[in-house]
Amino acid sequence: MSVKLVDISKVFSSSDRHERRVVAVKGVNLEVSAGEMVTLLGPSGCGKTTTLRIVSGFEPPTTGEVWIDNEMVNALPPNKRDTSMVFQSYAIFPHLTVSQNIGFGLELKGWKPARIRAEVEKIMSVMDLRDMFNRRPDQLSGGQQQRVALARAIINKPSVLLFDEPLSNLDAKLRELMRLEIRRIQQTFRITSIYVTHDQAEAMTVSDRIVVMNDGEIMQVGAPFEIYSRPANRFVADFIGRVNFIEGTAVGARDGETIVDFGAGSKTFSNLPDDRTRDGNLIAVVRPESLQISRSGSATGGLLEGRIAKSVYLGPTVEYEVEIEGRSRPLLAVVYNPIEAGFFSAGERVVVDFNPAAAHLLPG
Ligand SMILES: Nc1ncnc2c1ncn2[C@@H]1O[C@H](COP(=O)(O)OP(=O)(O)OP(=O)(O)O)[C@@H](O)[C@H]1O
Ligand SMILES: [Mg+2]
Repeated sequence: MSVKLVDISKVFSSSDRHERRVVAVKGVNLEVSAGEMVTLLGPSGCGKTTTLRIVSGFEPPTTGEVWIDNEMVNALPPNKRDTSMVFQSYAIFPHLTVSQNIGFGLELKGWKPARIRAEVEKIMSVMDLRDMFNRRPDQLSGGQQQRVALARAIINKPSVLLFDEPLSNLDAKLRELMRLEIRRIQQTFRITSIYVTHDQAEAMTVSDRIVVMNDGEIMQVGAPFEIYSRPANRFVADFIGRVNFIEGTAVGARDGETIVDFGAGSKTFSNLPDDRTRDGNLIAVVRPESLQISRSGSATGGLLEGRIAKSVYLGPTVEYEVEIEGRSRPLLAVVYNPIEAGFFSAGERVVVDFNPAAAHLLPG
C-alpha cells in the first residue's frame, strides 16, 4: 500500500505561556509507493518522529492530509490504520516467551492456537529465531530481542511498517548486522516502510529513497546515490557525509556547461543541477575521496597549492587536512590504499585537484 502526505504541518502549542509554540513539521509533501522503504533522515529535533506519529495516527496533524492507499485516514485512530510501529525501546513483554510475544497480535485477533503456532513458526524461521521458541526476553541478546520485536510487528501483516530509530539501543557491530536484516525482511515481505534515523550510513543501507529533513522541512528526496553525489543544497551536502566547499566564479557558460574559475585555475562542469549554476558565485561540492593530492612540483600539477596540516592514519585510508593559502578552513582529503598511493607528511607542500565529473556545483 502507498502512503501519501499532503501539506502536513504540526504546531505544538505549549501550556506554559513563557514557552513559544513549536512548529515541528512545516508543509511536508511526500509519496511512498507500495513496497518501498523510505527513510526520514535529519538532525535531532527536525521533526522525524512527529511525522512518523502523524502517519501512525498517534499525533493529529495541525494541517494537511494523510492518505494510505486510496483512503484519507485523518479521522481514523491508530488501531484502524493498518500500520505497525517498531520503536527504539522495543518493548517486548518480559513475562511472555518469545513465541507468545510474537503471536500476541494474532491472539488478540482471536486466532486458534494451532493456527497461531504455525504462523509464529514460519516467521521465526525467516527471522532466524528457530530455537528460541520458549525462551524469555531476558535470555536473548539485544539483536535477538530486536528481531522478536520486528517479528511481532510483521506477523500482523501490516500494510505499512513504521520504524523510529529501532537500532539505536544496540552496539555498533550489531547495528550494522541488524540494518541489513531489516532491509532483507522488508524486501522479502515487500512491506511499505518508513524508517526514521539520524545515522546516515543506516539510511544509505536500508532505503530505496532518503528524505533529508531540517527544521521541520524536507530539504531533498532522492535515492542514496543522488543525495550523496547530487545534494540539493549546502545543508544536505554537509549533513550527508563529509564535504569540501570550494568557492569559485562562473566565467562562461554554453551548451549545458559552465566554466568555473577557482582563482588558481579553472574547470569545466557539465551535468549541471539547474540554471542557478550558470553564472555568478558558485560552490563546488567535493567529497574528501574525490580530492586528489600530489607533491608540489610533480608532473601532475594541480588546482590549488597547500600544505599538509594534519594526517590521520586509519589503516585502509589516510585522512589529510590540507591548508590552502587564503582559505580559513582546511580541505579534507581521504587517500585510499595508502601503501600504493604513498604517504605525505605534516608540513609537506602539496597541490590538490579534483575531477569536475566527481564534483557537484551549487549556487554560492
Ligand atoms: N508533545 C510535544 N510538545 C511540544 N513540542 C514537541 C512535542 N513533541 C515534539 N516536540 C518538538 O517538536 C520538534 C520535533 O520533534 P521530533 O521528536 O519530531 O524530532 P526528531 O527529528 O524525531 O528528533 P530526534 O532525532 O531527537 O528524535 C522538537 O523541537 C520537539 O521539541
Ligand atoms: Mg525522534
